[in-house]
Amino acid sequence: MRNIQIKKISEKLDGGGALLRAKTNNLKLNELKKSTINKLFYEKGLILFDNFEIKPKDFFNFTKKFTTHYANDALRRKERFDNKVLRSVDLGNKRVTLHSESSFTVTRPQIIWFMCITPPKIDDGGETIICDGSKLWEKLSPSCKDFFKKEPVEYDVKINLNNKNSGTKKKWFLNYPGIYDEFLDLNKNIMTFKYKTFAVEKNYFNSKLFFCNHLLSVKDEAQIRKVSYKEKPIPKKYFEEIKNTSEKITYAHTWKRNQIFMIDNHRFMHGRNKILKKSQRDIINSQTLVANLL
Ligand SMILES: [Fe+2]
Repeated sequence: MRNIQIKKISEKLDGGGALLRAKTNNLKLNELKKSTINKLFYEKGLILFDNFEIKPKDFFNFTKKFTTHYANDALRRKERFDNKVLRSVDLGNKRVTLHSESSFTVTRPQIIWFMCITPPKIDDGGETIICDGSKLWEKLSPSCKDFFKKEPVEYDVKINLNNKNSGTKKKWFLNYPGIYDEFLDLNKNIMTFKYKTFAVEKNYFNSKLFFCNHLLSVKDEAQIRKVSYKEKPIPKKYFEEIKNTSEKITYAHTWKRNQIFMIDNHRFMHGRNKILKKSQRDIINSQTLVANLL
């Protein structure tokens, strides 16, 4: 298309990601060909749409094109624009450590979407941070790679349910590999289970390995009670290594109004820098559980 320009987002990302920019001011997002976006997403796994004319409703319609099912987003987040699948990102000002969205549970989205309604002011902080899982894997030491290639990690999970019924605690069944010991407790409105999974995975798009998980963000996620391997703690030295290595290759994005990120949640981790003062920053989010990339 002649009215768009494609560039790299940042050298910090493997392959650079794709910055897809409208060259004219009034180009609408739905004028883009789906096949162009599919191809870019397949190659890069990360697209930043910039300078398009767009409203939150158009954002929803755009995500719909690529979505067979939406994920039920965390209940703590606020519904936006009278739309169940548009939510505020986590409220508050704290830093959100790198993570692959919901990678400790069954509702891990394939694609996550962010749209900037109001960007933070220049000194407010609140940049969205993004780390390429394949670049991170490549940079880890042989001993760290050996460990995570061999050992699945196990998340001990407690999910809060939005359920007004009461009842007793009973065994449940989640149809998902790696999940066991599922219990539903309607008195406490929770579901608990264990989830055994590899922290590194082979991606279905290519032959690379991607280190995209929730390990760095265990303390920030109230639904994870603990993480372990073979009922032992994961060695601290590996947490340190993942943290230090990821920091060096993490890209911090300064938002502009109406920009949209389309992120492969199995290839990239995301988070947020601390918001430094009372900011008007307003970012909304949508999550594609099952993608439609045909
Ligand atoms: Fe997130």
